[in-house]
Amino acid sequence: MQVTLKVYRFNPEQDKKPYFASYDVEVDPTDRVLDVLEYIKGNMDGTLSFRRSCAHGVCGSDAMRINGRNYLACKVLVQDLGTSTITVEPILGLSVIKDMIVDMEPFFEHFRSVLPYFINDDPEPAKERLQSPEERARFDDTTKCILCAACTTSCPSFWANEQYVGPAAIVNAHRFIFDSRDQGAAERLQILNNQFGVYRCHTIFNCTVACPREIEITKAIGEVKKAIATGRID
Ligand code: SF4
Ligand code: F3S
Ligand code: FES
Repeated sequence: MQVTLKVYRFNPEQDKKPYFASYDVEVDPTDRVLDVLEYIKGNMDGTLSFRRSCAHGVCGSDAMRINGRNYLACKVLVQDLGTSTITVEPILGLSVIKDMIVDMEPFFEHFRSVLPYFINDDPEPAKERLQSPEERARFDDTTKCILCAACTTSCPSFWANEQYVGPAAIVNAHRFIFDSRDQGAAERLQILNNQFGVYRCHTIFNCTVACPREIEITKAIGEVKKAIATGRID
């Protein structure tokens, strides 16, 4: 089948403003959008810029807006879009460096702000820090995050104010707050209980729809809000 890719192009070194370039490409319906972008870059226009690494939904580097919705380009098949016209744009809310490449630094700054690492000052045990299967299951969902930013950059609260810590950071805080071995929950909850923290979330659910790892993000945010409100982690 033939598809037309309308691709956002912007090179701040030479373009006054962004524009869309059209590419007509012969594809297999089971090709992924990433395959089509690779074809364009390799055969039609080598200046086209986008990030990708693993090409298998693991590294999280190729989140982009495809037909108005955030996806990983390596996880969406042409046939699943149900149209032969495919619009590809950078994710929203982060400044564009070139074409689909955005500045991820503000996103990672929010991620780092919630202390996304294990905190425990007890002496190291001889063997391991034990945890029951139930305790491990409590935060299993939020361990799946690959930091692709599809959630945060689909959130209208983040579009409205980039200081909002965003769903990805809260997911990664959740992963440690509900880990029975960790001792940093109170500090993280305090960090998230400020004017740019969890209460900027208005339960819009775009984040949950966008997540390529199918993490129940809005639910996780609700659990963090509840922990702040009750002072209990259960
Ligand atoms: Fe990506 Fe999902 Fe992690 Fe958000 S929570 S950064 S959408 S993997
Ligand atoms: Fe945004 Fe998701 Fe909350 S889209 S408002 S973080 S539910
Ligand atoms: Fe790694 Fe798509 S290229 S997730």
